[in-house]
Amino acid sequence: MELFFAALILAYLQSFVLSDSQGDALFALKLSMNISNNLLTDWNQNQVNPCTWSNVICDKSNNVFSVTLSGINCSGTLSPQIGALSTLTTLTLKGNGITGGIPKELGNLSNLTSLDLENNRLSGEIPSSLGELKKLQFLTLSRKQSQWSLLDSNNLSGQVPNRLFQLPKYNFTGNQLNCGGQNLHLCESYSSDSGDSHTSKIGITVGVVAGLAILFLFGGLLFFVYKGRLRGYKREIFVDVPGLSCL
Ligand SMILES: *[C@@H]1O[C@H](CO)[C@@H](O)[C@H](O)[C@H]1NC(C)=O
Ligand SMILES: *[C@@H]1O[C@H](CO)[C@@H](O)[C@H](O)[C@H]1NC(C)=O
Ligand SMILES: *[C@@H]1O[C@H](CO)[C@@H](O)[C@H](O)[C@H]1NC(C)=O
Ligand SMILES: *[C@@H]1O[C@H](CO)[C@@H](O)[C@H](O)[C@H]1NC(C)=O
Ligand SMILES: *[C@@H]1O[C@H](CO)[C@@H](O)[C@H](O)[C@H]1NC(C)=O
Ligand SMILES: *[C@@H]1O[C@H](CO)[C@@H](O)[C@H](O)[C@H]1NC(C)=O
Repeated sequence: MELFFAALILAYLQSFVLSDSQGDALFALKLSMNISNNLLTDWNQNQVNPCTWSNVICDKSNNVFSVTLSGINCSGTLSPQIGALSTLTTLTLKGNGITGGIPKELGNLSNLTSLDLENNRLSGEIPSSLGELKKLQFLTLSRKQSQWSLLDSNNLSGQVPNRLFQLPKYNFTGNQLNCGGQNLHLCESYSSDSGDSHTSKIGITVGVVAGLAILFLFGGLLFFVYKGRLRGYKREIFVDVPGLSCL
């Protein structure tokens, strides 16, 4: 019993430690991105966890699973401490003018499914650790081709880790990246609506299953109606036959 309570208290404390480290990591990100003090004013480091902060979404156990900041004109960099947000699944930091490199610590976010760093001012290589994100589905590091933003946008270089070309949706266009290598790849996933075609496939499957179900139901109904008629017909015969025998 005592052991149980000790374990409970330990788990409780641990949740505190985890929550704190999430808040610390997010706050470090705010600082490193050089986000001005009059933005994200509710990002208060003294809170137990960052789940009430704007642009942050947590799951039921107060683990951060989504962070979305876009259109902030900042000039800072991405803090490597971002790697401590281990429960993160969606990270959207597009159009913020972020400079510097992509921290290799992003490869620590093993549950990450979507990473959007479009239209920043990132440079350097794509860390190979991104290729180890097994659950990643969507990756955008591209930049809009506009004559005004040419100096003002992502300029990543080097080789794209091969594994990233297996993602359902990726976009590396507008950088100095080498999408070639041994097998030639496009710098963006082949069809812009690969996600949609997947859902439409599901849609077709659902449609077919529903159609079959209705067909079976209708068939069953017909069968019973037919059987019912047959029985009625038989009864008629049954009634008629003795009548006939009376004649
Ligand atoms: C972004 O901020 C820089 C100065 O830090 C300024 O020169 C630039 O005009 C700003 N851009 C936009 C779109 O607000
Ligand atoms: C942060 O932004 C301020 C202006 O908003 C600028 O003066 C300063 O150089 C920036 N710092 C970094 C590290 O980019
Ligand atoms: C990332 O994971 C490595 C081990 O895989 C660990 O040593 C490192 O501390 C982690 N970094 C962060 C920022 O959590
Ligand atoms: C990743 O997600 C799975 C399933 O949702 C969960 O069991 C696991 O604890 C998560 N891992 C981390 C590091 O949050
Ligand atoms: C982009 O990166 C390449 C190679 O790293 C460099 O030569 C070029 O000057 C950069 N362009 C801009 C606009 O920063
Ligand atoms: C890739 O990004 C560029 C620039 O942001 C955009 O023009 C293009 O439509 C994107 N491609 C896909 C397949 O989303």
